[in-house]
Order: sequence, then C-alpha cells, then structure tokens
Amino acid sequence: MFSFDRRDFGPDFTFGVATAAYQIEGGQGHGRGPSIWDTFSATPGNVHNGDTGLHACNHYELWPADLDLIRDGGFDAYRFSFAWPRLIPQGTGAINIEGVDFYDRLIDGMLERGIKPYATLYHWDLPSTLQDRGGWMNRDIAHWFADYATLIAQKFGDRLAATATINEPWCVAFLSHFLGVHAPGYRDLRATARAMHHVLFAHGQAIDALRAEGTKNLGIVLNLEKSEPMTQSADDIAACNFGDAAFNRWYLDGLFKGRYPKEMTEWLAPYLPENYQADMEVVSRPLDWLGINYYTRGLYRASNVPGMPVEQVKGPLELTDIGWEIYPQGLSDLLVRVSNDYTKIPLYVTENGMAEVEGEDDPRRVKYYDDHLKAVLAAREAGADVRGYFAWSLLDNYEWAEGYNKRFGLVHVDYETQQRTPKASYRSFQGLLHNTR
Ligand code: FCB
Repeated sequence: MFSFDRRDFGPDFTFGVATAAYQIEGGQGHGRGPSIWDTFSATPGNVHNGDTGLHACNHYELWPADLDLIRDGGFDAYRFSFAWPRLIPQGTGAINIEGVDFYDRLIDGMLERGIKPYATLYHWDLPSTLQDRGGWMNRDIAHWFADYATLIAQKFGDRLAATATINEPWCVAFLSHFLGVHAPGYRDLRATARAMHHVLFAHGQAIDALRAEGTKNLGIVLNLEKSEPMTQSADDIAACNFGDAAFNRWYLDGLFKGRYPKEMTEWLAPYLPENYQADMEVVSRPLDWLGINYYTRGLYRASNVPGMPVEQVKGPLELTDIGWEIYPQGLSDLLVRVSNDYTKIPLYVTENGMAEVEGEDDPRRVKYYDDHLKAVLAAREAGADVRGYFAWSLLDNYEWAEGYNKRFGLVHVDYETQQRTPKASYRSFQGLLHNTR
C-alpha cells in the first residue's frame, strides 16, 4: 500500500496508466503496413533474444479486458498511442479502414468505462515506406506527419481528452540515429542532427494541423533526465552541461524558447539542416500542456574517448532490473526546473515506473511508485503545476531492444497464454484510487 492519500493530490489530479501501440498490440495483419520496428527487430543482433512485436500482448484482440483492468484499478485516464502504419499503411495516402475501426472501438470503450483517452500520435513505429524515403532525416516528414495528424483529428479528435504529437523526441533522434540502439539503428552524426531538428519541426506542423481541425488540449511528451556531474571538478561539470544540453535543453529550449543550446549548435553545425533557424517559430508553437517521462538521472564525466564529447557513468544508487538508478529526487528537481525556467503550462508525468524481475509480488516497485508520487507532491508544494501522473506500464510488454525480458507492468503477462495477473503494485494503485473516480 502507498503511504499517502489520494486527497493529498487534490480533487482534479489525473491518475492514469500508459502503454504504446507497438509494445502491446500485436495484430499485425488487418491491413496494417510494416513499421521500422518490424524490420529492426527482425535483424539479428538488434533485440534481446530476437524478440519482435509480432504478437506482443495481443491487445488488438484483448483490449476490452485491458480496459476493464484500467477501470477496475480506479484510474481516470489511459495514455495510449496510435500506430501510424495501422491507420495509413504506406505512411501517406490510402487509409486502412480496419485500423480506423480498431481505434474507434478502443476510444469508445474507454469512454463507456469512464476512462479519459490521452493519445500519442507517434510512439516510434514509423511506416517503413517513409523510412525508405529517409524517415526523420527527410524534412518532408513534417508534411507526412501533419497529414497523419489531420486524419487523427478528423476521425478521433473530438473524443480525445488530450493529444500529444511525439513520444520522447530524444529517443526518436539521438538514441535511434546516434547511439543506434533503437530503429532505424543508425550511428551517423548528420542523420542525428537532421532527425533532432525534423522531429521538433514535425511536432510543430502537427500542432498546427490538429489546431486547424479544432482538436483541443495539445502537447508533447519529453523524456527528461536529471543530469548530474560525477564529481565537482570543472571538467565533469562541463561534461554534465553538455549532456544536459543534448538530453534536456535541445528539446526544452527549442519548444519554449525557440532556439537550440549553443553547445549543440556548435557541435552539430556542419550537419544541421540549412536555415533551420527559419523553422523555430513552428518548433515553438504554444502548447496546452507538457508531458514528462522520468525514469532516472544521467551521471556525467569528461570523456577519454577521442571525439566523444562526454561519457555517462553508472552511479552507486540502487538499480532497477534494467540497470537504471532509482532517484525520486530527480523527478521533483526536474518538475520544478521546468516550471521555473521554461513554462507555466500544466505539467503531466506521462511515464514513470521500473523494470523488475518476473513475479506478481513486487514490493520494490510499490516503493518506487510511492517514492516517486511523493516526489510529485513535493514538486507541487514547491510550485510546479503538475496535473497528473501516468504509471508505465499497465502491462508487461515489448521493451524495445530488451524484448520481453524486461517487465514494467502493473499487471503480469504470460506471453504463452496471454493471461493477465495483477501485481501487488496494481493493487496498491487500486487501494489508493478505488471509489474516488
Ligand atoms: C520509455 C518509453 C516507453 C518504455 C519506457 C520503459 O522511454 O517511452 O515506451 O519503453 O521507456
């Protein structure tokens, strides 16, 4: 059980759970086109155990039971993502009616159960045909994405409580084009620089498209880390500032100040798209809310590797099963920082949670949530306007390059039988939220 009361968050605070299409849906027939995660995961060596999202949690068929779990847990809201290739199989052009019908049923299913739909347009499953045309490296993606956003607005917009354009642009750009860990798995600085700008330019174009169609309550979801230097030496502090610029400030400065941090524009100068400055007004379109995904801190020291500006090191704190340090204070610090330095629009913690070894008794996870929810309360007391919190994740699911090996769910999934079994962490939320919706 948690050590606080729901009333501590006030009557209007939204509690939810989050998932993403590729990680849970399966159902890859039904007119859905191929995505970059299908081919990336099919390429030997990219994903633990060669796991793919082919079946995942079979949410495509089992969604009514999954929505029942959300309702029975007492949650107010469900953060889900649309799969672009399910709606527009080739990325542009013809629409897949079966896909539209699926999301119609899913959204109506939420509304029937009194669950507010919080939608994300892009959670990493880019249609493969668009990757063939350069994907996030191609400036045209802003128009492809805006057209897709228009479709979402027209078909579903009036039923959505909140809509985010992109999930975690750092992952879309840096993790996928510089570190090569996620699809499309590139390690190329020019590809990275272009993706870093185009992902935010596409976001801004999609905001315009959604607004033009009358869709309300628009935002974006950033993954932020608490960047800290390993020691107080001048070199480590400089490394930390660079890491902070690459991870946090590129996105925060771009969105809320209409400019990119100097450390980054200097580093990437030869590779950034020509005249990117002219796009910054679109990048920094006003938003209605900001989502923050928080898992851990980043600890930096000066790099000894030639050409690498900084090095990230593992710290001494307790680790989750995926090897991330547990650091609730970092969540408070980030929320307060964003509120003080960037924006007064409502903030939501759109993802937070931990990987834990398989099992239905998960006391470490209960404590993780308890400590992080208290960190949210502390940030609110310090003046940050945090309006909601979404646990990652409803279900154990396909954890990208880690495959099915890492489990983040409040509910255990047996992938052989697709049996769902609530864990102690689910029961803790149920105890907190029950009968208060
Ligand atoms: C975030 C992703 C989400 C999930 C969690 C663990 O970066 O948005 O899909 O994989 O990490």
